[in-house]
Amino acid sequence: RIQDGKKAPEWFTFPEVAKEMERSYPPKSVQGFTIFCTGLSGAGKSTIAGLVCARLQEMGGRPVTFLDGDIVRKNLSSELGFSKEHRDINVRRIGFVASEITKNRGIAICAPIAPYGATRRQIRRNIETHGGFIEIHVATPLTVCEKRDPKGLYSKARSGLIKDFTGIDDPYEEPERPEVTLDTTDMTPEEAAQEVLLYLERTGYIR
Ligand code: PPS
Repeated sequence: RIQDGKKAPEWFTFPEVAKEMERSYPPKSVQGFTIFCTGLSGAGKSTIAGLVCARLQEMGGRPVTFLDGDIVRKNLSSELGFSKEHRDINVRRIGFVASEITKNRGIAICAPIAPYGATRRQIRRNIETHGGFIEIHVATPLTVCEKRDPKGLYSKARSGLIKDFTGIDDPYEEPERPEVTLDTTDMTPEEAAQEVLLYLERTGYIR
């Protein structure tokens, strides 16, 4: 419509349509994304993340970066402890690196405990402006993690040698709407990794 002598725009896209087009472009198969495994110590995060990482590397295409909790603690957060403040700084650092990787269309795989919901949500919001954010709740129950106790840390926490241990005397806030939930009690690490890969395939991130 021409009004007051103004030239009408040559084409018009409804904002809802424009938003949808923006969301699906570039296609998910070439977008960057972050796989964010969260859960208790001993839940199986690193093992699953490692297997998914190896499989995605085999597939080729996008570069894959594994930001494991222990590796990040050693190289990026060595001055930090396990207070709420320090955990949040640590997890935000991981989120920042993952968002840069996602922005550059790579794949970031993270595996920290990341016990606080608000911090995880903040990271999700940031990363989703650049690509995909796939939250994997490795929901293995505390009793099972404690029985496994691969590093002997639960027994130290129970006897008071370690303070503020997640699940014992420090909180873990469960994710509200994770993309994938995995309880590894009766599941092999390979089966758990396969669930993640199937999710990525179903949603178009990998082919
Ligand atoms: S966090 O909360 O996301 O910053 O934790 P993260 O960087 O993933 O580090 C968790 C690993 O540190 C060891 N550890 C502890 N975990 C929890 N609470 C306390 N107090 C603690 N002290 C040391 C533990 O081995 C965790 O390893 P994972 O790989 O999760 O088992």
